[in-house]
Amino acid sequence: MRDVAIIGAGITKFGERWSTSFRDLCTEAGIAAIEDANVAGEQIDAMFVGSMSAGRFVGQEHVGALVADYVGLGGELHIPATRVEAACASGGLAFRQAVAAVSSGMSEVVVAAGAEKMTDVGDSTDVLAGAADREWESFAGATFPGLYAMIACDYIHKYGLTREQLAQVAVKNHYHGARNPYAQFQNEITQSTVMNSTLVASPLRLFDCSPVSDGAAVVVICPLERAHEFTDTPIKVLASAQAGDTIALHDRPDFSTMGATVAAGNSAFRQAKLQRKDIDFVEVHDCFTIAELCAIEDLGFVPKGTAGKFTEEGETQLGGKLPVNTSGGLKSCGHPVGATGIKQIWEVVQQLRGEAGKRQVEGAEIGMTQNVGGTGATVVSHIFGRV
Ligand SMILES: CC(C)(COP(=O)(O)OP(=O)(O)OC[C@H]1O[C@@H](n2cnc3c(N)ncnc32)[C@H](O)[C@@H]1OP(=O)(O)O)[C@@H](O)C(=O)NCCC(=O)NCCS
Repeated sequence: MRDVAIIGAGITKFGERWSTSFRDLCTEAGIAAIEDANVAGEQIDAMFVGSMSAGRFVGQEHVGALVADYVGLGGELHIPATRVEAACASGGLAFRQAVAAVSSGMSEVVVAAGAEKMTDVGDSTDVLAGAADREWESFAGATFPGLYAMIACDYIHKYGLTREQLAQVAVKNHYHGARNPYAQFQNEITQSTVMNSTLVASPLRLFDCSPVSDGAAVVVICPLERAHEFTDTPIKVLASAQAGDTIALHDRPDFSTMGATVAAGNSAFRQAKLQRKDIDFVEVHDCFTIAELCAIEDLGFVPKGTAGKFTEEGETQLGGKLPVNTSGGLKSCGHPVGATGIKQIWEVVQQLRGEAGKRQVEGAEIGMTQNVGGTGATVVSHIFGRV
């Protein structure tokens, strides 16, 4: 297997993009990434596009071909484009397929994209519920806020998490998002903003939830040995891991431990031959505040039951021991579901190039991502390093 590097990255502003179509979002991010990578269309030989449900969100299927066409890789170039779907982990998984294509030697220069346009429909909660077990969860009334509320109840019962500690996850992510010009919400908030916001599914309130969003993100990769043909600042892929679990939350032995995150994280650390202490920052899947706490525990950064205190002490904020979600996370940067996994990787690229501006992690050398589908039936995790 060959080593792989990222040579370019592009993103759109996340948010409610009323006047921009799905294809235009993909084109905007795709052209930005291809220009950033300094590659010509003729040099690209495959594309993978992560999208959870363009069919239900915008009525568009066959999105691999659509995106390739609109970024100028269909038509005369006839580049093979493949859509990848794993609910909210679609973007991370599209990247993993791209890495497999390059590392195996099947392809040389490959584009990995993620996109979703969610705000055009009135029933986004029901579309998202299709990522759970439709027969046993969604038909019984469980929505994603409801399922993660059950995780939060279990966690609070077991570990005595305080309301303030949970709120601090959102406060910290809005602090980071306020420093990201591509974020959906660029305003700082306080714990009382979270604790006085509308109750969505007890104990989760509006500001515990990621929003419904539009956006796209794209990266370009190639064999590490060729990366300097395109860029002076390649980012090496040190590990690419994926793990699965039961589709339904009620079939898990422990609601507040995501087994697939534990498995994918362990695999990623084994591949990269790194320790937890070697990671300078991490982008995790905070679709709800409770998910961020579970993620940093299940990846092994802090012991189970202690992430709330770690967060309250400021250790996950810029300047802390482990900055988490410097992009603003799903909470503040936004969560166009198919785009999120690639957005996490885009943020790692900004940080490792030293181009993250006001949210730069000083001396960042190694970054990690964790992207979740559903309540953890799919988890994709990557580790990256400066070359
Ligand atoms: C939380 C949620 C139910 C709110 O939806 P809603 O009540 O329809 O909200 P609206 O779109 O009507 O927005 C109402 C206001 O709240 C704001 N808002 C919406 N979601 C927000 C969020 N997550 N955080 C902060 N503010 C939010 C809007 O900007 C709007 O503000 P304004 O009145 O100043 O313009 C929705 O964002 C949601 O379902 N989130 C979870 C998405 C999800 O499950 N993703 C998959 C995870 S696995």
